[in-house]
Amino acid sequence: MVALADSGSAPCGAGPGLRVELPGLRLAHPVMNASGILGSSAAALRRLAEAGASALVTKSFTLERREGYPTPIAVPLEYGMLNAVGLSNPGLEGLKPLVEAARALGRPVVVSIAASTPEEASVLAAAAEEAGADAVELNLSCPHARGRGLVLLWDPVASRRVVEAAASAVRIPVYAKMGLVDRLADRAAELLGAGAAGLVLINTLPGMVIDVYAARPVLGNRVGGLSGPAIHPVAVRAVYEAYRETGAPVIGVGGVEDWVSAAELILAGARAVQVGTGIVRRGEGVICSIVEGLGKWLREMGAGSIGELVGAAQRA
Ligand SMILES: Cc1cc2nc3c(=O)[nH]c(=O)nc-3n(C[C@H](O)[C@H](O)[C@H](O)COP(=O)(O)O)c2cc1C
Repeated sequence: MVALADSGSAPCGAGPGLRVELPGLRLAHPVMNASGILGSSAAALRRLAEAGASALVTKSFTLERREGYPTPIAVPLEYGMLNAVGLSNPGLEGLKPLVEAARALGRPVVVSIAASTPEEASVLAAAAEEAGADAVELNLSCPHARGRGLVLLWDPVASRRVVEAAASAVRIPVYAKMGLVDRLADRAAELLGAGAAGLVLINTLPGMVIDVYAARPVLGNRVGGLSGPAIHPVAVRAVYEAYRETGAPVIGVGGVEDWVSAAELILAGARAVQVGTGIVRRGEGVICSIVEGLGKWLREMGAGSIGELVGAAQRA
């Protein structure tokens, strides 16, 4: 099979107006996968590359191997899904082979890492850089080292330290991936001040589904992360506020399933978007259908490039 890296044309046939640049990432178009969706194996990453993703984002790696939570780990919902996968991953030893396999596919590679301490963050970020990643995405929704059920991002000091440690361990850019927190824009500014080159907004929102006949929560972990269309307006607002207050490079994620939902995040301030649940619900063909829709939208808006529309809703 011909390596994708050798096939000259842009993924999804994207025209030059759809090119975007972010720290460390020159993208043929703004659409990539979200961490945790088709990012755990070489075969899955190949599927993503063949489906036209402009960058390949890995599942989050932790230092130690994690088995994940007991089943069921996901519940499909009318308006999205609820999952409690529990960051299952092979740990540091699985990072290098996966990143090397991703690199061979000829797309920029973003390695997601989840660290509970600054030390873990620097080891994981350095390993990602050494393996050939173009950027690191730091998943700040990792369990907090100090407490069961706590999330690192909820502790402003700890999350700043983890960002600082990752950013100072590498030369490639580190993106801080945030979930929903109070004073989101201020917190984003703090993480940028700690060395993050950009932001990825947003992670899943905590939720629960209860089986009314079994009279107990459906997920093995009881609580899970809500994703998909249900969280899209929340993501749009998060991107809008973070971009308005910081002007930083933002990758928007949350409920993108078609070009309109992608365009909303771009108008709010995202330079690129990630698709997670949209791939689960609609298949990876959704990537090119979003890219094609964005291309048509660009022409309809009379814009020469996507860059002209990034954050345009802020000026309205
Ligand atoms: C099954 C599943 C696994 C996920 N795993 C990760 C992960 O390993 N790291 C991470 O940062 N986010 C993870 N996420 C969150 C997604 O990357 C994304 O932020 C979230 O689902 C919102 O986007 P969506 O509505 O397009 O799914 C996961 C989401 C799902 C649904």
